[in-house]
Amino acid sequence: MKKICICTGRSCKTFGTRRLTKKVKKLTGLAPGQKSDSIQVEHVECLGFCSSAPNMQVNDTTHNNVQDDDVKKIINTSDDNPETYGEERTGQKHNAEEIMDANNFLGDL
Ligand code: FES
Repeated sequence: MKKICICTGRSCKTFGTRRLTKKVKKLTGLAPGQKSDSIQVEHVECLGFCSSAPNMQVNDTTHNNVQDDDVKKIINTSDDNPETYGEERTGQKHNAEEIMDANNFLGDL
């Protein structure tokens, strides 16, 4: 099951949550809160990379500065083969451990 999470935090909302949600729906046929046999789409709270908004996450990988043209590549990239997305437009990918560190840091403020 591929889980696609689109950030709805303030920065991402400002820079593209709505746009990314529409693009994901167009490509997958799924709106946030819906799932098929192989894909689940969700809206999530801040992923901790606000300065790189808009952000979305596919399974354990977070993608920053996501533009419309990036969404198809991101969705088609599997965690088993991250090179298929590579360092193209957004270039910045973070694994779940980095996200936990970022969220823990924010929790200390
Ligand atoms: S608002 Fe999206 S990562 Fe913080």
